[in-house]
Amino acid sequence: MKKILFVTSEVYPLIKTGGLADVSNSLPKALAQTGQEVKLVVPHYHALHFHAPVFERCTFKVGTHTVRLLETLLPESDVRIWLVDCPEYFGLPGNPYVDAAGNAYSNNAERFALFCRVAIEIAMNRVGLDWKADVVHCHDWQTGLIPALLSLEYQCPPTVFTIHNLAYQGLFNGLMAATLQLPSQLLSSDGLEFHGMISFIKGGIAYADKITTVSPTYAQEIQTPELGYGLEGLLAYRNQDLVGIINGIDDDWHPRTDPLIAKNYTIDTLVDKKENKKALQAQLNLPVDENVLLIGLISRLVEQKGIYMILDCLPELLDFPIQFVVLGSGDRGFEARLQEFALANAHKLSLTLGYNESLAHLIEAGADVFLMPSRFEPCGLNQMYSQRYGTLPIVRKTGGLADTVVDTLPSTLANQTATGFVFNDAHEGALLEAIKRAGVLYAFPESWRQIQINAMHGDFSWKSSAEQYLEVYEGI
Ligand code: ADP
Ligand code: GLC
Repeated sequence: MKKILFVTSEVYPLIKTGGLADVSNSLPKALAQTGQEVKLVVPHYHALHFHAPVFERCTFKVGTHTVRLLETLLPESDVRIWLVDCPEYFGLPGNPYVDAAGNAYSNNAERFALFCRVAIEIAMNRVGLDWKADVVHCHDWQTGLIPALLSLEYQCPPTVFTIHNLAYQGLFNGLMAATLQLPSQLLSSDGLEFHGMISFIKGGIAYADKITTVSPTYAQEIQTPELGYGLEGLLAYRNQDLVGIINGIDDDWHPRTDPLIAKNYTIDTLVDKKENKKALQAQLNLPVDENVLLIGLISRLVEQKGIYMILDCLPELLDFPIQFVVLGSGDRGFEARLQEFALANAHKLSLTLGYNESLAHLIEAGADVFLMPSRFEPCGLNQMYSQRYGTLPIVRKTGGLADTVVDTLPSTLANQTATGFVFNDAHEGALLEAIKRAGVLYAFPESWRQIQINAMHGDFSWKSSAEQYLEVYEGI
């Protein structure tokens, strides 16, 4: 049994901006099921939604800050979450990282440096909890200073750093080194320094004992200039300590039991999926038509997700006999352009801006195909949710999308491995072509049903991924 301190800046259902929150919910539970003792550390944001009682555990000082540690439970589990309460840093309402206009908070470096220092105090058993970590598992740039600072401690626990998205690096002005009181031995070009700036994510990559990322293909891609963002050299250097482990998905996402959809179904009752399509169309004021190809998209509306490709192909796509349901939020420019299309094509395109958990479930259940034309995608969860719901994903061949979707070809149709539609070029022509291929096949219900069944048979459970993480912990 290992004592694992799992440090993350978001966890569903307390707070979520993306897939990291889903992973931070499911992976600790899956690890606990293998007999490990997992504790989460999360900032006590103003916006947290609690689902279990909250207790105060202890109070201590870190630098000039007085920090309270609160404790609650991860819903439907015995896994404890320790919340770092420091109102001057985490007490703002709204998003954990950006203000209402979408700009990063100006004191993010101080906020997450404090978060890292608190996690270190906990890991080293210095806050009076009588608990010392056997391994500290850190996620994304917000936790990147932990491996760096912990490496200076006497008898420190080993660290694992997971990259969920290398595009977000936590880069700050070099002068922050003094403000954050970072020890000089960490500031070299082998350490936190990155082109004159301080890089939090580099702290994880340079100092963690093991580095993981969330798919085998992305583990290769980040060692190339195209997706390495200047860190490809360091990642290639650490190649022996770098492994790609694909995320699993939680059982909350299962059409058999999902309480947020109109009608539950399984492979044996696949006809009932249509009830969800009709409910979705009715809810979104689209013409109720069970035969039209319904395309779904749920996404952060940012460049990574290939939204520009969708905007480029929309004029032509909207001439096809389709309906398109979009749920998302993000870049204000993308939001505005999508809104223009939606206003002009209300009978075909439904746009819901904002975050909506129950609509997300109904889209997964009601759509026929799900679009993920990502420019890059470390793992991606919706293409796996989609397959479980018999909603065929249309994805670009990158990262975790390449690892989890099998393109429909004569050969994969014949050997019953096809699970969706995959295209290569990050270009609207290639995306349109893939949508057309899906449209053509949709007219052949027998073949379509077979691909749905192949997709629904996929094993996307957390069990094998959790075992791979255990191997990483044990291999240190
Ligand atoms: P990323 O973390 O890069 O955003 P993932 O595919 O890993 O991408 O995870 C995205 C998660 O966030 C999924 O669970 C998806 O359903 C959810 N999601 C994204 N946008 C919204 C939204 N507007 N409303 C509800 N859920 C959303
Ligand atoms: C990141 C990635 C996404 C991945 C998620 C969870 O947000 O963009 O591809 O699925 O983390 O690992």
